Amino acid sequence: MSQMTDAKPLPIIIDCDPGVDDAIAILMALGNKDAIDLRAITCVAGNVPLSSTSANARRVLDLAGCSEVPVYNGCAHPIMKQKGRTSSAHGTDGLGGVNLRDPVTPLQDDHAIDAINRIARETPGGIVLCPIGPMTNVALALLRYPDLRDHIRQIVLMGGACFGPGNITPLAEFNFHVDPHAAQIVMTAVIPIMLFGLDVTRQAILSKSFSKDLAAAEEPLFQAAGQMLGAYESRDPCLHDPCVIAWLVDPGLFKSVPAHVEITLSEGDAAGQSVARTQARHLNNREPNCEVMTEVDVPRLEALLKDSLTTLASESALQTS
Ligand code: BDR
Ligand code: CA
Repeated sequence: MSQMTDAKPLPIIIDCDPGVDDAIAILMALGNKDAIDLRAITCVAGNVPLSSTSANARRVLDLAGCSEVPVYNGCAHPIMKQKGRTSSAHGTDGLGGVNLRDPVTPLQDDHAIDAINRIARETPGGIVLCPIGPMTNVALALLRYPDLRDHIRQIVLMGGACFGPGNITPLAEFNFHVDPHAAQIVMTAVIPIMLFGLDVTRQAILSKSFSKDLAAAEEPLFQAAGQMLGAYESRDPCLHDPCVIAWLVDPGLFKSVPAHVEITLSEGDAAGQSVARTQARHLNNREPNCEVMTEVDVPRLEALLKDSLTTLASESALQTS
């Protein structure tokens, strides 16, 4: 399974919980306008509470000089819990303590669920949905609007750990563990899904000097990205969420296998575990419901990130000159 169309730029929505690696994913998308048309950012509680994720998304747009991208608030907690688990990897503010100003980019009035539905319907050929936080918004949008799936070209998501251990528990990856019910609704939606789990994102480790070199640069965008990455990589060295965007720009960076993935809904460490069936004897007449990413070319991923930030910095310099 590859991208559903060759037509570029691909119209996408990023559903996210920034989060340092979410922030880098947003910057990567904005630095590739020939390939990606970012129609909206929808926010969900995850790494930090919702009020912080939606403020952080807007801070990142300010930093990139892209305040025209609309940002929507979504769900403040998982489907079956009053309070979701957060992640310490991103610092208490979610952006590694980097001192970005209060956001100027406005927060839109619509709820993320309604925005996803409206934008998907307005997009000829449908939207590419990129969930890189807990899947709560996406799952509830699919339930609220049953024919929405006809307007989603593809879901390209970060979540799960199919062939190896989890990160938040020994069995489960953070995004799926925080809202396992949402993850299962998405995985059973019968929409083409590309799944970027820890199987591939654990390989996505930048060279040691990458964040330091960025932080030492004069360009404010580079400095902020370098500082965020520097704070984050001591706690989690993996560039999880940007893998989703990198695939949209250059799918040749990745290898994958078709699989049937089911989410464990029990309580405790197994909640959100992604059980992947790839062999005929395990599939037992089930059809694969996604492509599980297994390998990434890390030097090319790093080069793509550097190029994306360079392009974005020069575009925002042109705007302000
Ligand atoms: C996922 O969890 C979050 O901490 C990251 O932003 C990423 O989406 C990795 O497990
Ligand atoms: Ca995330």
